[in-house]
Amino acid sequence: MIIPLRNCCCFVLLINVLLFAGACKKKSNPAPTADPTLQSTAPFLMGSAVGSDAIKGSYNYQGTLINEYNSVTSDYQLKFDWVEPQQGVFNYADGDYIVAFATQHHMRVHAHNFIWHQALPNWVINFQGDSLAWENLFKTHIESEATHYKGQVASWDVVNEAIRDDDGTLRNKDVNPGDGSIWRQHLGADYIARAFQYAHEADPNALLFYNDYGQEWGGVKLDSIIALVTSLKNRGIPISGVGMQMHIDINASNAGITAALKRLAATGLKVHISELDISVNPNNDPNIVFTSDLQTTQAAKYRFIAETYRATVPAAQQYGITTWEFCDADSWIPAFFHRKDWPLLFDSDYKKKAAYFGLLKGLKD
Ligand code: G3I
Repeated sequence: MIIPLRNCCCFVLLINVLLFAGACKKKSNPAPTADPTLQSTAPFLMGSAVGSDAIKGSYNYQGTLINEYNSVTSDYQLKFDWVEPQQGVFNYADGDYIVAFATQHHMRVHAHNFIWHQALPNWVINFQGDSLAWENLFKTHIESEATHYKGQVASWDVVNEAIRDDDGTLRNKDVNPGDGSIWRQHLGADYIARAFQYAHEADPNALLFYNDYGQEWGGVKLDSIIALVTSLKNRGIPISGVGMQMHIDINASNAGITAALKRLAATGLKVHISELDISVNPNNDPNIVFTSDLQTTQAAKYRFIAETYRATVPAAQQYGITTWEFCDADSWIPAFFHRKDWPLLFDSDYKKKAAYFGLLKGLKD
């Protein structure tokens, strides 16, 4: 079921007319006060990762997204494999749909991402060329995509997940073929700085982010992320902010989250909680039941994150909180980890969970 944008507007308009009509009929009773939403409550932008298929496929998806959020992040359709499946052949249709939808509904677009060691097309993985040829394909991809979306997106995750979990060094396919970076392998350690420079030259007004996960663990991962972004900033490389993905579970350390947010804020860069979800089944229990206790624990963790983000990141540096999708049925976690899980704010029927109300409480004083 594809719902063209124009029909969606008519549908939303129809709903609004009906609501207005209903409100009008009960002149004797005051119109019902609208429920608070994530976007109406938060002192910063509230986002969700989105895909064009999901937007097209469901009125509930569209309605929830428009009502609750004022920012979107492209989940997978602005990544290398999707945008340039063959060298020099660019596919912007799905990204354009997301940008058009967001623009129509006055939502910020955070584009994700130019350079990552994953989501690469085979032609890159198998590319044979000297360092100049590698630099050219790298620069051409960034420049082409940044130019296409110039003036349409507010910001980019320029480089994603460049730092290893275990020792804080740069991922390098030479060293770790499994999860190393082909970019570090062929372009040298300073590929990250050049990615930011190419992006900035193509779209000088876009805010540019380094995005990673595991900052809440502390240790070498956090130390290396702080060192990287601080170095870029001190060198005058055009970095605007850092994304703290926050793919966490209900057992994540509150102290670790607080310490990471404080240290990221101390860089002076914008801080974006960029991919938040909170797993309730980190031990892959095949028999798990989403009990009310688990729901309450998850809600408390969402509330804590919002409260701590507001308390530790200065308002000028709050780029917002983005969840990685918003409906449990669209989460990457169950499929990726082959387990039952309910990590997001809305259930598979788009009903607000305890997690939603927990986050809402944490967004206000
Ligand atoms: O929807 C299409 C479907 O129509 C098509 O038939 C199928 C063919 O492969 O692809 C489907 O798209 C898949 C998409 O997820 C939606 O399910 C893509 O192949 C698949 O690559 C994509 O995976 C995404 C992954 O990044 C790689 O891009 C996950 O959804 C997404 O959650 C995950 O997100 C990453 C962040 O970018 C970085 N941080 C970690 C996070 C989770 O791994």
